[in-house]
Parts: sequence; C-alpha cells; structure tokens
Amino acid sequence: MAGSSFRTMIPLLILLFICKSHQVLDPSQPRIAIIGAGISGTSAAYFLSKTPGLNPKIDVYSKDPVGGRMATVNIQGYDFETGGSVLHPRNRYMKQFAEQFGFKRKKGISGKFGLYDGSHFVYSEGDWSVMNVASLLWRYGFSLLKVNTLVGEMLNQFERIYSFQDDGYAFSNVADLLSAMDPSFNLMLERSLEAGLKHAGVSNLFIEELANAIMRVNYGQSSDAHQFKSRDFNCSLFYYVLGSVSLAGAETGLWSLHGGNKKIPHALLNASGASFHNEEVEAIHLNSDGRFSLRFKENDEMPLYDAVILATPVTNDTSMFGFENFPRQFHFPGRFHQTVCTMVQGDVNHETFQFADSSAPSVWKVFSNEPLSKRELDILFSTINETFVIKWKAYPEYDGTTSTGNFTLHPGLYHINAIEFAASAMEMGIIGARNVALLAASHLGVDVQDRKTQSFHIEL
Ligand SMILES: Cc1cc2nc3c(=O)[nH]c(=O)nc-3n(C[C@H](O)[C@H](O)[C@H](O)COP(=O)(O)OP(=O)(O)OC[C@H]3O[C@@H](n4cnc5c(N)ncnc54)[C@H](O)[C@@H]3O)c2cc1C
Ligand SMILES: *[C@@H]1O[C@H](CO)[C@@H](O)[C@H](O)[C@H]1NC(C)=O
Ligand SMILES: *[C@@H]1O[C@H](CO)[C@@H](O)[C@H](O)[C@H]1NC(C)=O
Ligand SMILES: *[C@@H]1O[C@H](CO)[C@@H](O)[C@H](O)[C@H]1NC(C)=O
Ligand SMILES: *[C@@H]1O[C@H](CO)[C@@H](O)[C@H](O)[C@H]1NC(C)=O
Ligand SMILES: *[C@@H]1O[C@H](CO)[C@@H](O)[C@H](O)[C@H]1NC(C)=O
Repeated sequence: MAGSSFRTMIPLLILLFICKSHQVLDPSQPRIAIIGAGISGTSAAYFLSKTPGLNPKIDVYSKDPVGGRMATVNIQGYDFETGGSVLHPRNRYMKQFAEQFGFKRKKGISGKFGLYDGSHFVYSEGDWSVMNVASLLWRYGFSLLKVNTLVGEMLNQFERIYSFQDDGYAFSNVADLLSAMDPSFNLMLERSLEAGLKHAGVSNLFIEELANAIMRVNYGQSSDAHQFKSRDFNCSLFYYVLGSVSLAGAETGLWSLHGGNKKIPHALLNASGASFHNEEVEAIHLNSDGRFSLRFKENDEMPLYDAVILATPVTNDTSMFGFENFPRQFHFPGRFHQTVCTMVQGDVNHETFQFADSSAPSVWKVFSNEPLSKRELDILFSTINETFVIKWKAYPEYDGTTSTGNFTLHPGLYHINAIEFAASAMEMGIIGARNVALLAASHLGVDVQDRKTQSFHIEL
C-alpha cells in the first residue's frame, strides 16, 4: 500500500516541482526582458549585467539576427557593412568596447564615395580621408573652419553625457537628457541643419554643396530638398578596393571594425550572460502586481518580467506592440526613412563614371531611397556579377517635432530608441541603452548613484 502510493507521489512531486520552478521567481534575481538585439538591446543587457547589486536574469528577444541595423554581406571573402558603418573617433563607448573585446579597428574607410544625382557626379572621387582641407578651403573658404569649430563645440557639450552616466544619472525623457548636455541642443533639433548652419554664419555655397553631400551620405537625405533634383534617380555610391585595408584616413579619424561592426553587439550579448531568443514579441501585458508578461507571435508561453526594455524603433512603419492593461495609452509618432543598400560586384559603366579608371575596384555600394530598377543598374554598371539588396528602415524622418519622446513609458517599462529622434547612430544607441539600464536598475531597487564608483567606467 505504502509502496504504491509512494510510487504515484514521485511523478506528482516532479510535476509540482516543474510547475513551481516555472512560477516562483527568485526574489533576489530580478527578471528583465529586452526586445531587440541590435546595439541598443545588447549594450543594455551588458550594462545591466555589470550593475553591482542587481544580479539580473536577462532574456533578449529579437526577430532578426543579432546586430540589427549593424550587418555585413560577404563578397568574395570580404565583409562589407550594409548598415551602420562609420564611427567617429569620439564615439567613446564604441571605442571602449572595441578595445575591451580586443577587436582591431580599421582607420579610415577603405572606400571612396561619389554622389550621383542621376545626371552627373555632384561630389566625386574624394574619399572620406581626402576631405582634403586645402582643396575644400579653396572652394568653401572659412565656412569650413566655422563648421569645424561648431562641430567641435557641439562634441564637447555632447561628451558631458559620459560623465553624467558614469555618475549614475539618468533621464526619463529625451528632452531632459539633451538639456543636461546643453540647453541649446533642444533648440537645435527644432531648426533644420540648413537654418542652423546659416545661423552660425556658414556660407550658402557650403551649405548647398558640401552639407548636402555629407547629409546624403550619412543619412541618405539632403538638408535641402531642392538641391539634388534630378532627371533620373538619386543615389549615393561608395566603392571599395578589394584587399586594401585603408586608403589612409588618419586626418578624419573615422573608423570601423575589421570583420564587421556587428562583432560588438555579438560580444556584448555574450559578455552579458543573457539568454537570446529568436522570437517576435507581439504584446506587453501589465499584470496587477506591476510585473509584465510578454506575448509572442509563434509561441504560447507568456513569461513574467520585473522590467521590460524596448530596444527597437516603435513607429507604425517599423515595429508595433500591443500594450495591454496599462493606465495610459502610448503614442509613438514619426516615420522611418527607407534606405536601400545595393551591393554590386561588377564593373561600373565608364560612360557614366569618367573618374573610374580601368584598375577600378570591383565592389560597389549604392544607397538609394527605392530599390534600383534594371534600367538604373544598367546606367551605373556595365557588367554585374553579383548583387545583394538590403532594404532598411534606416533612421527617422527628422521634421523637428518628434524629438521629445520618453525613455520611461511606465515604471519598469522603457524605450531606448526614443533617443533616435534626436540622432540615430550606433553610439546614440549605447548612450540610450546606458540611460535606460540606469532607470531600470533604479526601478529594481539598486541605488545607481551610490554605486557609481564600481559601475562601468569609461577610460578618458
Ligand atoms: C544604411 C545605414 C547606414 C548607417 N550608417 C551609420 C553610420 O555610418 N554610423 C552610425 O553610427 N550609425 C549608422 N547607422 C545607424 C545605426 O546603424 C543604427 O542607429 C543602430 O544600429 C541602431 O541600433 P538599435 O539596436 O537601436 O536598433 P536595431 O539595430 O534596428 O535593432 C532593433 C532590433 O529589434 C528587433 N525587433 C523589432 N521588433 C521586434 C519584435 N516585435 N520582436 C522581437 N524583435 C524585434 C529587430 O529585429 C531589430 O534587429 C546607419 C543605419 C543604416 C540603416
Ligand atoms: C531626387 O532627390 C530630390 C531631392 O531629394 C527629389 O526632389 C527628387 O524627386 C528625387 N528624384 C527622384 C527621381 O527620385
Ligand atoms: C563569450 O564570453 C566568454 C566569457 O564570458 C568568453 O570566454 C568567450 O570567449 C566569449 N565568446 C565569444 C564568441 O565572444
Ligand atoms: C503612421 O504614423 C504617421 C506619423 O505619426 C502618420 O502620419 C500616419 O497617418 C500613420 N499611418 C497609419 C496607417 O496609422
Ligand atoms: C562572380 O561571383 C562569383 C561568386 O561570388 C565568384 O566566384 C567569381 O569569381 C565572380 N566573377 C568575377 C568575374 O568577378
Ligand atoms: C511622456 O510622458 C508623459 C508623462 O510622464 C506624457 O504626458 C507624455 O505624453 C509622454 N510623451 C510621449 C511623446 O509619449
């Protein structure tokens, strides 16, 4: 009798144990969900895992591969960035991560770019490194120096954010974060680039030609919609010399990573000890105890979290989530700009590109707003061996009205990419991530300012 009831109890006990281990959470180990495994989500996981006294259990969910908008294609054994590529020497977090993980930095960009407006090159043959100060000064005069000073001043103010974050200070919305750096930053966002440059006394010629070229290449958009009116189509184009490590570039100091920038999000995710799940999150449900459940597209589980971090753009043309049971409705205004990256291995059309000599390189990167048609490809290339087309929702359309988003949506629910409406860049993602990691840690009961001396510290 006793024997048989004992035998029936074993599976019961096991069953009970399984149920229990599913439902009861270790109160000393807060559970955090991060949605998105780009640079924002993976660096948030990293900062949270390094927060003294937090000891979190982190799940990172992403519907796309780790890296997000940092991605490469491999053509004939070489990796080419199709998304976020160029880093600034003063991008401190990216630099620090590259050093910490022992990754080799490529100085300069091993390519050249030209700006093609459908009928001719508006800006060609210079590579980034040959943003040759002498020739530019000749054409644009002192405007260039003014822009340089302006950018230098902005960067000094911008860099205040690093010491704020080292000291454990965080901001619940983007406007506060920007005003802490410099009250004029918010004003600046309300002005167009063009108005800002004019205000600073920069010449019209400079604004029209160079600023447009830089904006187009950086962001695929022009600072003035009329400048690049074209007969056929608009695109900007880079070309790569296979095998060349760098065409110098020390003057500008711009850099990228050997083997692809996406190595950084991969390393951050690994170093955080978070679990990665290739799942699409559909909805976030607020429970009556203040915790959150996630609902997935292709999985019936509804795991429970103490904090949830959105690490993806949330607009009606990027990602939308159901927010259930929250006391207020959330609004995510704004739209994202489509940038199509076409990588081509082949020969350019020498009728179109007079500058390209016969020893010209054989891999080309074309950015355009729409996928290139066969006819457009024929204008650009005489022979095509391979093409890769990647359509990105690249960055927000900046109209100066959507920069005031919130990092804190609800206590315990945060949105890193609110920062993108101020500026969209890899470094901005990390700054947003550290801000949100500080907010979340504080919500979970860790006094982040008190622990500043032990927290992640940036070497100056
Ligand atoms: C063509 C291009 C050129 C660029 N050039 C530069 C540059 O030179 N320098 C620079 O600094 N920056 C550049 N950027 C910008 C930079 O790449 C981005 O700002 C940065 O990579 C954004 O990272 P993120 O983690 O915030 O977002 P993302 O990388 O977009 O990551 C978000 C992730 O969330 C996932 N996701 C979304 N919704 C869900 C859901 N419901 N469930 C699960 N997962 C979800 C997505 O799969 C995505 O992978 C460029 C971007 C593009 C597209
Ligand atoms: C080229 O760009 C200009 C300025 O952005 C735009 O007005 C024009 O319509 C574009 N032309 C084409 C063919 O897309
Ligand atoms: C992942 O992290 C562990 C230690 O946390 C390290 O030993 C290992 O080399 C890392 N792997 C990769 C691929 O970065
Ligand atoms: C998407 O959002 C934009 C900007 O907020 C808005 O103008 C547009 O009407 C919205 N579209 C849909 C289908 O909701
Ligand atoms: C064309 O692409 C294939 C596949 O990548 C490669 O093996 C081949 O060498 C390329 N041919 C030329 C002429 O570049
Ligand atoms: C930001 O949060 C505040 C409440 O804290 C709310 O009133 C405001 O509407 C939010 N802004 C946006 C853009 O969601």
